Amino acid sequence: MAEAIRVAGWEQRHDVAALRRAWTEENAGHPVEDDGFTDRFEEWLEREQDQRVTWLGYADGEAVAMVNLLVFTRMPRPGESAPNQWGYLANCYVLPEHRNGGLGGRMLDALTAYADEQGFVRVVLSPSPRSVPFYLRGGFEPATSLMVRLPGS
Ligand SMILES: CC(C)(COP(=O)(O)OP(=O)(O)OC[C@H]1O[C@@H](n2cnc3c(N)ncnc32)[C@H](O)[C@@H]1OP(=O)(O)O)[C@@H](O)C(=O)NCCC(=O)NCCS
Repeated sequence: MAEAIRVAGWEQRHDVAALRRAWTEENAGHPVEDDGFTDRFEEWLEREQDQRVTWLGYADGEAVAMVNLLVFTRMPRPGESAPNQWGYLANCYVLPEHRNGGLGGRMLDALTAYADEQGFVRVVLSPSPRSVPFYLRGGFEPATSLMVRLPGS
């Protein structure tokens, strides 16, 4: 099977939306009727696209996987020439029939290579318990330098 990982642009928005739908329906266990989803998705992407980098994973030319990086640019400081940035990894998803073959890991490598090239000071994510070994293999480690507040705390 021919696999590839590429950065997605606006032209690939339908592939990204289709993967978002597939993930939602996988979790729900049934098709989800929502006529407004495509419009809401496009409005969201239009607002977000300048600060988000999305990768799509392809198998035999079909988009079967995605991940994106929300880029935070810190407030500039006097005397600092380059922007100081970090990222939040989100929406990492591989269609079930393409899982456990390394495609997710290769997407993760593409994302972390980008973050390194750009000089990001950190990449953060919130893993599901099942995906922890996946992210550990990708070079992530449990964070001890962040704090989180959950509702009601
Ligand atoms: C997590 C995910 C993107 C990995 O993609 P992949 O192509 O299977 O990745 P790889 O083949 O490189 O690695 C396989 C690893 O993925 C993880 N994994 C496998 N199935 C998974 C699932 N249903 N949910 C979460 N993680 C899973 C495991 O850590 C597995 O390694 P292990 O069996 O040694 O523990 C993919 O399983 C997925 O889309 N899961 C559902 C969505 C999800 O949970 N995303 C992460 C949210 S934080």
